[in-house]
Amino acid sequence: MPDDLLRYRAEFPILERTTYLISNSLGAMPRGVYDALHAYADIWATRGVRAWEERWMDLSIDVGNEIGVLMNAEKNSVSVHQNVTTCQAVVASCFDFSGPRNKVVYSDMNFPSVMYFWEAQRAVGARVHMVKTDDGITVPTERLLDAIDEQTLLVPISHVIFRSSYINDSRAIIEKAHRVGAYVVLDTFQSLGSVPVDVQALNTDFACGGVLKWLCGGPGTGYLYVRPDLAPKLQPRITGWFAHQSPFTFEIGPTKYTDSPFRFMNGTTHIPSLEAARPGLKIIREVGVERIRERSKHQTARLIALAEKHGWQVNTPRDPEKRGGTASINLPDAPEVCRELLQRDVLVDYRPQAGVRMSPHFYNTDDEIDRAIATVDEILRERTVAAQ
Ligand SMILES: Cc1ncc(COP(=O)(O)O)c(C=O)c1O
Repeated sequence: MPDDLLRYRAEFPILERTTYLISNSLGAMPRGVYDALHAYADIWATRGVRAWEERWMDLSIDVGNEIGVLMNAEKNSVSVHQNVTTCQAVVASCFDFSGPRNKVVYSDMNFPSVMYFWEAQRAVGARVHMVKTDDGITVPTERLLDAIDEQTLLVPISHVIFRSSYINDSRAIIEKAHRVGAYVVLDTFQSLGSVPVDVQALNTDFACGGVLKWLCGGPGTGYLYVRPDLAPKLQPRITGWFAHQSPFTFEIGPTKYTDSPFRFMNGTTHIPSLEAARPGLKIIREVGVERIRERSKHQTARLIALAEKHGWQVNTPRDPEKRGGTASINLPDAPEVCRELLQRDVLVDYRPQAGVRMSPHFYNTDDEIDRAIATVDEILRERTVAAQ
């Protein structure tokens, strides 16, 4: 491993105590978060309400731009929210589902939380078309493209699938959607910080995700990119005083929408999570997604090769160009094995139809990959002996 990546290990205290392979769920906490949250408390304690003007009002714009840089978003095109589900709700609230163009198309490999949200929009006229997939790993692009037609309004899809780490062909999906006049909401939660994302090159209409996984930013901050030429045409119905051109004049009546990212926000912002997000974002910017991606391809390949050597089922694409940062490995008694791994300080998770998800990040060593696999092997052997 090149030393320049190795040196970042010291920034993440949990790496001293565990084999941390769970960045697809919760990235390791950077040491800098202690200081960031201490500074937050200090400002609150000493500056009181003046903190809003002196720091907190601009914070969401700044953090939005810090996230935006990582996806080549135009300046001031990213707003911050609490989570992805809220981001997609804000997008939905910009559209009308009562007319003939009311179809919402996605695959059954999307993250369930957003499916629950879109299913609930049937009550306001949305026609949800969920494309069925076959193998639990990939999304048949042609089938998805065929479902996107002249009646399609929105296509909310994951860039990288949370179960299998398959990389959707988002370019083809966006091109087809645009050809028929539909909009794409690209969920980049499992890609940004792990797989390169360029919202301008993709020409996506919306992109959303959160910072707590690959961006090491902790829970509480989601982000929403809106294409700058589209943004002024949209008026979210989920809105509030922060979206108003002059919130502090406390005008009554409808929102006069501002043109800044606040246009897509609503009420008072979640300052502590925004502060906590910054150290991780800074490190990811410094390390660079290209280097992260190289390391990730190498280490997920190592995991897959070792799993195959043991005869375990791999539910992740073998082609590194079609694979994100996770190797999903199905094991006998996978939920129990996963619990035992956590006991032994190998941090991973288990997801139904996926198996145990192992997700190395730029701070992991090859030795840790080998140790995790050796620990799985040890647990399985112990279970076999215990069963005899
Ligand atoms: C692709 C994807 N989308 C969304 C979510 C979560 O959505 P939310 O931020 O609303 O909790 C996850 C995982 O937590 C995910 O992997």
